[in-house]
Amino acid sequence: MINLSGKVAIVTGATSGIGNETAKVLAEAGASVAVIGRREKIAKKLVNSIQAAGRRAECIIGDITDSKFTDYVVATTEEKFGRLDILANVAGVITRGDALSTSDSDWFSILNTNVSGTFFMCRASINAMRRSGGGSIINTGSTVGLTGCSELVAYSASKGAVVNMTRAMAIDYAKENIRVNSVNPGAVDTPMLISGHGSSNAKSILEKNRASIPQGWLPQPKEVANLIAFLASDLSKHITGAAVPIDGGYTAV
Ligand SMILES: NC(=O)c1ccc[n+]([C@@H]2O[C@H](COP(=O)([O-])OP(=O)(O)OC[C@H]3O[C@@H](n4cnc5c(N)ncnc54)[C@H](OP(=O)(O)O)[C@@H]3O)[C@@H](O)[C@H]2O)c1
Repeated sequence: MINLSGKVAIVTGATSGIGNETAKVLAEAGASVAVIGRREKIAKKLVNSIQAAGRRAECIIGDITDSKFTDYVVATTEEKFGRLDILANVAGVITRGDALSTSDSDWFSILNTNVSGTFFMCRASINAMRRSGGGSIINTGSTVGLTGCSELVAYSASKGAVVNMTRAMAIDYAKENIRVNSVNPGAVDTPMLISGHGSSNAKSILEKNRASIPQGWLPQPKEVANLIAFLASDLSKHITGAAVPIDGGYTAV
């Protein structure tokens, strides 16, 4: 059983999909959770539900592409909860496009959020984790960061960068008991899966993705949240620098 009692976690992307479920799973395992997102109403609702279940949670509202905000997130978390042990970087955005159809603004928007936002949160957390005697950072890549994928050039570039900057930071901080890993989901049933296909036909998108998975079923966000909780916990204490696929066998083909 995963036990995160006494640990303090930051979860970005907590207002939707995988991040929302991650905040709940980490809290259920005993962690106090700082919930990050731009949509305040949803973040407050999540905080209320975690508190109602007897755990501690606070929301910090803002945009992770602003490094002043990411520094503020870590400082506020330490001020409210006294320490930082876990950073789950789940926030991300997607836009479809091959090289010719990807505009400058789409390119920079995806790179800013998925790469710079993730990096700013990691950088802001290192010294706080040192003060706690170590920590675990879990970044969210994608199977698209491990293999090629058509019509997702900017998103693929961003997730490849997440996977490899994770490895670099894992090496840099290994001796300080700060572990850095990436989870790499295939298709997961969240709002992003539908929006990322640029179509409103949700049923056919879900079916097409399900059919591409060797296991033959589409996971809910909780499957990924459970993996993040494992990587956050001491059960995974010899795992660092890993890019862990969670894809029902998709990248094994
Ligand atoms: N769903 C999939 O099939 C799939 C597959 C592989 C990888 N992933 C990755 O898994 C992660 C979560 O995906 P999801 O499907 O759960 O997506 P989602 O439902 O669209 O949620 C995305 C989250 O990111 C937050 N976010 C986006 N830009 C932000 C910014 N600039 N500042 C702060 N927060 C920001 C959003 O919050 P606000 O709007 O409130 O700011 C939201 O909570 C992403 O990194 C995604 O790339 C997803």
